[in-house]
Amino acid sequence: MGSAASGVAPADLVITPRNLRFGRDEVRGRWWLGGDPVATAWHNALSASFPDGETFFIETVRRFRDAVPPQLQAQIDDFVRQEAYHTREHVAFNRQISDAGYDIAAIEQRIAQSLVLARTTHPVAQLLVTVSLEHFTAIFAHAMLAHGGRQFDGASADTRAMWTWHAIEEIEHKGVAFDTYMHVTRSLKPAKRWAIRSAVFLRVSRNFVANRVKDALALLAQDGITGWRAKARLAWYLLGAPGVLRQVAWAWAAYFRPGFHPWDHDDRALIAAHETTVTPAPTLTPAAA
Ligand SMILES: [Fe+2]
Ligand SMILES: [Fe+2]
Repeated sequence: MGSAASGVAPADLVITPRNLRFGRDEVRGRWWLGGDPVATAWHNALSASFPDGETFFIETVRRFRDAVPPQLQAQIDDFVRQEAYHTREHVAFNRQISDAGYDIAAIEQRIAQSLVLARTTHPVAQLLVTVSLEHFTAIFAHAMLAHGGRQFDGASADTRAMWTWHAIEEIEHKGVAFDTYMHVTRSLKPAKRWAIRSAVFLRVSRNFVANRVKDALALLAQDGITGWRAKARLAWYLLGAPGVLRQVAWAWAAYFRPGFHPWDHDDRALIAAHETTVTPAPTLTPAAA
């Protein structure tokens, strides 16, 4: 991991929308992540939030497309395409979660309701919700790839490839919403821009973690795992081993640094290291020329 010039995306950054499909015909076990109900519940809770969440990301960034310089416009276009493909794949993934016997309708309904409320706020406030959540997806993606994808040990090859693909693209476009915010607020004093983005990030962070925990516990309850036992097991998964929240704690806090930029750390080497693992093996031999 190297350092980029502070405050900007790398000049040679390429954002590549990869129109891939994963595991459509796969019949996964109920506990698809290594037979572990807790790891499965956490990732199911994340996946349940993605389609509506990413649709909101697209809306809130695309709204400012005409107000930013051409280079950022092009990045927004690639960001939109990547998030649209992610939405499509997670819709399919979520259908398989339902097919495995989980009822995720209540979770999806609450997320949809909270987004109805979010859409009534100022467009820049909405953009900042996206900037905040994009920081979460980028640091989760970084941690996942930096640990060699071990949190998906025990998942099928296609499932692992799908989450790896998503992680790669979240890293690629991690600066797009942030740079859009910085451009549209360029007339504000730096201290004010910092205060606004930090305040929104704190609130979004609290809600994001609290809601995903609530949703994971609701899914575990459908497995008959309830009460203190469910809470203790989930807490250990998030904060102990593997500690998917613990792993991102410092990267989370970096957002509060005045002058922070998502590309302060250039982690494109992680993309290169995992890129070859995401393309599903071809099932058909190309016809002879
Ligand atoms: Fe995404
Ligand atoms: Fe994203």
